[in-house]
Amino acid sequence: MASLTIRKLDEAIKAELRLRAAGNGRSVEEEVRIILGELIQGRPEAAPSSPRLPPSAAAPTRNSPDPVSGIPSVTLIIGGGIAAYKALDLIRRLKERHMHVRCVLTSAAQQFVTPLAAGALSHERCYTNLFDPGSEFDAGHIRLARDCDLIVVAPATADLMAKMAQGHADDLASAILLAADKPILLAPAMNPLMWNNPATRRNVAQLVRDGIATIGPNAGEMAEAGEAGVGRMAEPTEIAIAAERILRPPQVQPLKGKHVLITAGPTHEPIDPVRYIANRSSGKQGFAIAAAAHAAGAEVTLVSGPVDLDDPAGVMVKHVESAREMLAQVEAALPADIAIFAAAVADWRVKNAGSQKLKKSAGGLPQLEMIENPDILATISRLPFRRPPLVIGFAAETEHLIDNAKIKLTRKRCDWIVANDVSPATGVMGGDRNTVHLLTREADGTVAIDSWPVMTKDEVAATLVGRIASHVKDASA
Ligand code: CTP
Repeated sequence: MASLTIRKLDEAIKAELRLRAAGNGRSVEEEVRIILGELIQGRPEAAPSSPRLPPSAAAPTRNSPDPVSGIPSVTLIIGGGIAAYKALDLIRRLKERHMHVRCVLTSAAQQFVTPLAAGALSHERCYTNLFDPGSEFDAGHIRLARDCDLIVVAPATADLMAKMAQGHADDLASAILLAADKPILLAPAMNPLMWNNPATRRNVAQLVRDGIATIGPNAGEMAEAGEAGVGRMAEPTEIAIAAERILRPPQVQPLKGKHVLITAGPTHEPIDPVRYIANRSSGKQGFAIAAAAHAAGAEVTLVSGPVDLDDPAGVMVKHVESAREMLAQVEAALPADIAIFAAAVADWRVKNAGSQKLKKSAGGLPQLEMIENPDILATISRLPFRRPPLVIGFAAETEHLIDNAKIKLTRKRCDWIVANDVSPATGVMGGDRNTVHLLTREADGTVAIDSWPVMTKDEVAATLVGRIASHVKDASA
């Protein structure tokens, strides 16, 4: 008697059999036995005794990459945190970038958003349950993990990341993440104390070592009244851009073979061993440019003042405190093809900084004598020999933005200036968005001004790197 191995059947037939079996509440083997029995008895193929599951209720089938359109598919796991409401906007942002989105909600996420809302926005069934007979009759969690091109977790809660780091699989989301053979992008969101807890730091470090990509969290106000710090989920547009970068890596790396040198962040100028002068720069813009230049294939050296940001992957980061240390590291990193000075360098330092802590008991107010710091941008722009061919400065202004930026372009002898309004109302300092104007010195000596719409700092970085790539291409043509 011949034997039949269902495993060896054609995929399409197996899928059809699974649907029929699930619709009739039978095992696949049982369903096959019944079909064969009916055939032998000469009866037409029997219809399922219960209605066949509608395609939307069936186990997920691969919907990407669509072989014709090439549209990639994202499994979006929504974790249980207040930022879950932003995940609904993320669905839109991913879809407007031409991606299929299929959502999975943890049980905690359902306290914040409903499967109905996620399903309506994604135009796909939303999955919630590891033991759902409608999708698990053929190990649907494995298919949710594999039949996609990218898994995005937003918000990635401390708990979900702890589970991932430990390899737990006790609900649908964690089972998918453990079974995944596709890239994973996490958008963490939690209270700053939870983010800074050593356990979370360990888990995040482990996940990064495991090759998992992260975006954010950003600094800002928390949902909890009066709390602020690093822990806000990255904005949906930022997450969508990060997802796009993973799904559609640049085919060409326009800055391959180029060395890009970048300064970022504030500098700290000591008053005594425990006190310093600083400014409000977060370093985000410089870090975003470093990441974008790296993505464009450049070898990147980032000289950063004290910031609360993780080092961008693949970038050589030199951490410094003061302006003089920054200048020394910049000089040591030369030669470079492109130098971008995004740091908010302190203009002055204390000449008579104390080697011991200044004491109140000494009587009277401390007399701090200020001295000007070296201008790093101007120093590098004026180098007679090792000047990078393209030197770009930033002009942080609170008034007369364009006029002041033009003056800086001339005074500092750089080639381009990125001018941005940093007056408090804009929220640029420490914030995630930036409105900039690019001033470029043209061959005929005139200055061209290109004003960009309000963008996230990641978008500003990507646009600036795009301009640099075109410039490099034109220069070598
Ligand atoms: N810059 C620098 N070294 C300094 C001061 C500024 O490299 N000591 C660079 C910044 O990184 C930026 C540009 O110069 O690219 C302009 O910085 P900005 O703070 O806008 O201007 P300042 O030169 O400090 O002038 P002002 O404070 O008068 O606006």
